[in-house]
Amino acid sequence: MKKLADNVYWVGGTDWIVRNFHGYELSTHRGTTYNSYLIKDKQTVLIDTVWEPLTDMFLEHLNEVIDPGEIDYVVLNHAEPDHSGALPAILEYCPNATVIVSKTGLETTKKHYHKDWNFKVVNTGDKINIGENDLIFIEAKMLHWPDSMFTYLTGKNILFSNDAFGQHFASSDIFDDTVDEAEVYQEAIKYYANILTPFSKFVTKKIDELKKLNLPIDMIAPAHGIIWRKSPMDIVEKYYEWSKGDSEKNVVILYNSLWGATHKMADFIAHGIGSAGISYKIYNSATSDRNDVITEIFKSKGIILGSSTVNNGILPSLAPFIEDLMGLKFINKVGTSFGSYGWSGESPKLLSDYLEKAKIKVLQDGLKIKYNPTDEELQVCFNFGKDFGKKLLAEF
Ligand code: FEO
Repeated sequence: MKKLADNVYWVGGTDWIVRNFHGYELSTHRGTTYNSYLIKDKQTVLIDTVWEPLTDMFLEHLNEVIDPGEIDYVVLNHAEPDHSGALPAILEYCPNATVIVSKTGLETTKKHYHKDWNFKVVNTGDKINIGENDLIFIEAKMLHWPDSMFTYLTGKNILFSNDAFGQHFASSDIFDDTVDEAEVYQEAIKYYANILTPFSKFVTKKIDELKKLNLPIDMIAPAHGIIWRKSPMDIVEKYYEWSKGDSEKNVVILYNSLWGATHKMADFIAHGIGSAGISYKIYNSATSDRNDVITEIFKSKGIILGSSTVNNGILPSLAPFIEDLMGLKFINKVGTSFGSYGWSGESPKLLSDYLEKAKIKVLQDGLKIKYNPTDEELQVCFNFGKDFGKKLLAEF
């Protein structure tokens, strides 16, 4: 148990060891936390629970503050199992507690647990008095599920934002001003890039709405990672910036190579980009963490994909990245492609087609070179990169 404010406690679970999330689809290099919060007022309120395997740790933390049988309300801001997993166990202790959900949350929770608990549906602006203070609910549809919701605690001025503004970051401390801020921001942007990007329009709208509500916010307490209290609106402003699709004058070159020819092309294209005054990062799709690369692509204006041609196609290690590019729907990005080949040479065209499908503007036709590039052909690669760099600059 840790204290946020008088009568407000963190009672969640910390997983230092986990390195994958959403099955094995999202890397979590710094572990994670499942944040649950307990409010003691005239009524006792639990905000969210934890993932089911951490139930024992969660109950230990709860028991340090109250007997779980005393809980009057469980606010379920979002029914994904990492936050609702311990709900059935908690409700064994307090079967008469009211489970507060959004309208969609009612369906989501019932579809997950097939129980007819004592539900109460709330809409944006609804208020529940819990004694000295009130809970105010703000639906946050598609941040990142249809059921997602924020809960605001008056008096303490705490916004419990669930997944929004969170980060997969295990820590012995719970506040932003007690940890390495650079690490936390890296995890926050990784979370945004890999999970929230497709819903950026909803993020922009929600932040505009949140600002109009004019609620004093002293803390933002998300459902993963640390709590923002030093300057809590900073992360909100970051989200606003990210949701607009602004990016840096950087290029990510992501490629794979059978025998090194495509690798040489990548190097010379990169030098050409550099000569145009643009920074770049190079990743091999077979050896790089997909979520880390996606984060770098999210931050960058340009993405260049490269692959040798094999079996009339691309090397398979690129496929998961392409799937992500299509699903995450990045905006305002530009790209092109390249690759070495032996006889058929389809890969650059295929890669550019994928970029177009992902709504990434292809600035120039892909470059292909037969077998191992000569010095003259490497100069062609250099010029290809330089041209791309100049065209990218013109996009700003
Ligand atoms: Fe942290 Fe959408 O669950």
